[in-house]
Amino acid sequence: MAEPASALTFPPATAERRFTDAERAAVLANPGFGDHFTDFMAHARWTREGGWGGDEVIPYGPLALDPATAVLHYAQEIFEGLKAFRHADGSVWTFRPEKNAERMQASAVRLALPPLPTEDFLASLRAVVAADEPWVPVPTAGSEQSLYLRPFMFASEAFLGVRAAHTVDYYVIASPAGNYFPRGVQPLVVWVSDTYARAGQGGTGAAKCGGNYASSLLGKYEAAGNGADEVMFLDSETHTRIDELSGMNVFAITDDGRIITPTLTGSILPGVTRDSILRLAEDRGLAPSSEPLVFAEVLEQLGAGRIVEMFACGTAAVINPIGEFRFEGGAQTVGDGGSGAHTMALRTELTDIQYGRAEDRHGWLTRLV
Ligand code: COI
Repeated sequence: MAEPASALTFPPATAERRFTDAERAAVLANPGFGDHFTDFMAHARWTREGGWGGDEVIPYGPLALDPATAVLHYAQEIFEGLKAFRHADGSVWTFRPEKNAERMQASAVRLALPPLPTEDFLASLRAVVAADEPWVPVPTAGSEQSLYLRPFMFASEAFLGVRAAHTVDYYVIASPAGNYFPRGVQPLVVWVSDTYARAGQGGTGAAKCGGNYASSLLGKYEAAGNGADEVMFLDSETHTRIDELSGMNVFAITDDGRIITPTLTGSILPGVTRDSILRLAEDRGLAPSSEPLVFAEVLEQLGAGRIVEMFACGTAAVINPIGEFRFEGGAQTVGDGGSGAHTMALRTELTDIQYGRAEDRHGWLTRLV
């Protein structure tokens, strides 16, 4: 895709913080995931006539939307997820942000939204993290806290005709984050839905758009009703091949050292963590591949001890072992049901790079502050 010209600088915030130091410290003591938001947000607007402009860093707060705002009716919306990590020397870094910028551009094309140039995307991240720097948690031994960054873009024109909006708003909000799963990094029980699919061929499964996540919600309820932490979707045509979880890619590791993730078929999100794991696995002497993973065959290989570990991964969840699959009429333990050695070693290696505890040998980190 041709890179659009960049234009935005996101001048520094001039407003006061909305929280006191004590209020911020109370949140950072136990941030959870997705529950708390910082002092500032970045904003820019695109119009069909003028392109991108109006870049600003403003106090975090509610948006006033006309009831006819197109996104509320036709879901023309995309988003990204990244994290800002504080290193031991106080500096703040993020992980492969240009991959998120590229994916957001690809999502924009699919949802008929205006692609935001990579430099503008990076400028928006820098601006929010500079304004919200005190919100980037200081890592303590064993903690994995970060500042989760959520860029998003939506059709903001008030218009009910079905066409791409002529006005689009882009924001970056930030949220201090601990573990994605309330139980921490524990083996997940995963429900395999044969009722619902997340996305179909020719649809929006490879784009990071809100609609894909809306379509996963009933599957998550179905999972919870079956005592599971998460839902896994199969492909929509044959209901045989593994697609992904509600917001995470899936990997399997075999007893002969292969590490396999489903091929990107168009209904699977091309995860940045997924891509990074394929490279880290190779460094560890595992043989990475992406290929179709037929769930019935996975079950057989789990039963025969040929698949020994499985895990889910994503920016928010990082890497999380899968301990058991449940499905209509049965269940299957993964390995011994615990956290696999390769899985946890990959997790440690990835987070050590992100937090600056291990050499960034792939050049994946970008300094923000
Ligand atoms: C992320 O991992 O950053 C996502 O956007 C997925 C979402 C389920 C939190």
